[in-house]
Amino acid sequence: MNTTILGLDKNKTEELASELNILLANFQVHYQNLRGLHWNIKGNNFFELHVKFEEFYTDAQEKVDIIAERILTLQGQPVHTFEDYIKIASVVVVKNVANDVEAVQGIISSLSELISIERGLLNLSDSADDEGTNSMMSDFISEQEKTIWMLNAWLG
Ligand SMILES: [Fe+2]
Repeated sequence: MNTTILGLDKNKTEELASELNILLANFQVHYQNLRGLHWNIKGNNFFELHVKFEEFYTDAQEKVDIIAERILTLQGQPVHTFEDYIKIASVVVVKNVANDVEAVQGIISSLSELISIERGLLNLSDSADDEGTNSMMSDFISEQEKTIWMLNAWLG
């Protein structure tokens, strides 16, 4: 078997890096969506949601860096331009949303899309014996599932 410096299958690692780039692009759109919601939110829940969305985008920003550095660890090249992100990402762009319910529904939808990409990655990393990516995806998924529960609870 042709292996990488980490002792992982080379072809599977290349596939993983490429899928991680898709996740990275989607996270960048998700991040920018959250910034827009943080800025544009209006109404009685402004103070609560303005702060909550900042918490979410700070978390997304940290995850963007973790994903990019995992790609580098797998000897791949992380995508880093808006041009590429827009081409690759499937998360819906949220634009000019000021309504609280619409904002929270938009975040749930983005998180669901991210989780579905992460589950695909989890299958790949499992078959590649890539425990590093595997545990990263598991952590992301369980955190995001919990956030979806909380957002749903907020919707009532
Ligand atoms: Fe701010």
